[in-house]
Amino acid sequence: MSNKSSAVSISVVRRLPRYYRFLSELLKDGKTRISSRELSDMMQLTASQIRQDLNCFGGFGQQGYGYNVKDLHEEIANILGLNKIQNCILIGVGNLGEAIANHIDFEKRGFKLVGAFDINPELIGTKIGGVVIRHSDEIEEFCKDDPPKIAVLCIPKESAQAIAERLVALGIKGFWNFSHFDLTLSYDDIVVENVHLSDSLMTLCYRVNEIFK
Ligand code: NAI
Repeated sequence: MSNKSSAVSISVVRRLPRYYRFLSELLKDGKTRISSRELSDMMQLTASQIRQDLNCFGGFGQQGYGYNVKDLHEEIANILGLNKIQNCILIGVGNLGEAIANHIDFEKRGFKLVGAFDINPELIGTKIGGVVIRHSDEIEEFCKDDPPKIAVLCIPKESAQAIAERLVALGIKGFWNFSHFDLTLSYDDIVVENVHLSDSLMTLCYRVNEIFK
């Protein structure tokens, strides 16, 4: 599977969490089996698209049976690597950082929050998401022996690139970056997910305006 998955396009990878989410709902509803037709109706993808996506990882359906919900859910969890928990740290515990630490269930998504950092003296020493907030000056010391793999950036955009470079030097491999600044880290082994909620809002704006044209 690893050889196949290394060639998988990012658009397929971006659909996997959605498969996982729908399958989680089906499992919750006690559904054990789903036809490719039902799954495609539910997800508003063609059955052929679903087949093509899943074939990138070996294909999991059976002709005339469809998909076993539990098995497919497990397979997708394995493909996403949700069971290999990676340590992550949060940088910036303001409004957004606090919301993320309190509302994202990291461990269900393959991560464990092990540290949080800020520069606001009022926050240092308080707790968030089960971890103590430390001063950013302590990041090097914290990462020295066992660097976490992932950093969640919820800092102002002016500081984002410099902090990211600092974290790369400490061994961080992936960034979930909310800082409204598209990080440029030209290393082959560094992965960045820039997240802009407002992009989605503006897409909605365009689509709603199209309706009323
Ligand atoms: P905030 O001002 O409430 O929090 C920012 C926190 O970062 C503060 O606690 C501050 O002390 C800390 N900070 C500043 N420099 C730091 C450094 N070098 N190291 C560690 N901590 C540092 O701001 P808020 O609302 O939480 O937003 C944070 C960032 O996320 C901003 O850049 C904002 O524009 C962005 N944002 C992005 C969204 C998205 O969809 N990507 C949505 C909302 C906000």
